Amino acid sequence: MLSDASKTAAGRPRVVKMNAEIRQLICEMRESGRTVGLVPTMGALHAGHLSLVETSLRECDTTVVTIFLNPLQFSAGEDLESYPRDVGGDIEKLGDMGVDVVFVPTNEAMYPPGFSTSVIPPTVAQPLEGRCRPQHFRGVTTIVLKLFNIIPANTAFFGQKDYQQSLVIRQMVADFNVPIQISVQPTVRDTDGLAFSSRNAYLSSDQRRQALSIIASLQLASDAVSRGQREAPAVVAKMRQVLADAGVSRVDYIAIVHAETLAEIRHIQGRTLAAVAAYVGNIRLIDNLIIRP
Ligand code: PAJ
Repeated sequence: MLSDASKTAAGRPRVVKMNAEIRQLICEMRESGRTVGLVPTMGALHAGHLSLVETSLRECDTTVVTIFLNPLQFSAGEDLESYPRDVGGDIEKLGDMGVDVVFVPTNEAMYPPGFSTSVIPPTVAQPLEGRCRPQHFRGVTTIVLKLFNIIPANTAFFGQKDYQQSLVIRQMVADFNVPIQISVQPTVRDTDGLAFSSRNAYLSSDQRRQALSIIASLQLASDAVSRGQREAPAVVAKMRQVLADAGVSRVDYIAIVHAETLAEIRHIQGRTLAAVAAYVGNIRLIDNLIIRP
């Protein structure tokens, strides 16, 4: 809990828009010995985001949630324009949970005229999402590094749902000596198994049934490996069949890869990532499971 001065009377979070204001606020907290947890988001908050917030509230004295729909990580033709937005609802949810500070910068504050520097993402950004969305991780690393600089938190919380993103950020933090700890939390799923995603809001009930084939294919991979299957191409073929049977034909990738390097593997041994990116209608969904033989 924060001192009264840092919160509004109703216990609603303090909503900050200016970089200088949030930086000063967080620096003061750190100087007074408080630990600060940071949860970066693009808004349209769901149970997946909120579980990161809960973990931060539990582990840190102060929790800052950022809401910024970052145009730099979307390419032309992607869903930036139609991405769900509900900043008012988001702030209310965060207030109910007891979040102290919500940072909602404007595009102009993040990318003022003259902005022209960006981060070249690490090697682990190249396969999977990097191959399908070539500019994506440059946008992610650039905004996340900016947020880490503006909000000098002790720990930043990310979800396993975006597994490759978490590896990319860990590597960037190591490579640039950013003094922040990265905590990756498990994927939160709805009762039917579908991973919570802001994009689920677009799914019709038929499409949702189709989308469930993604987790079904990942589960099948995990089960096959538990039963002794070690040949990745055979597992991928079975996964492809599960998606095809559900009518999911536009598949960006079905991957069985090394869980740290994301290098493709043929023979499964050690900690392995099974990951899928596929379209249901024109909605692109991703999901993954860690598999241990
Ligand atoms: P966004 O998609 O809003 O996700 C914010 C955080 O929530 C990410 O760390 C993501 O992995 C996590 N998350 C999403 N769905 C989840 C689920 N079902 N279970 C657990 N965690 C989940 O990821 C981004 O925003 C952006 O790229 C960002 C890092 C904010 C940079 O713009």
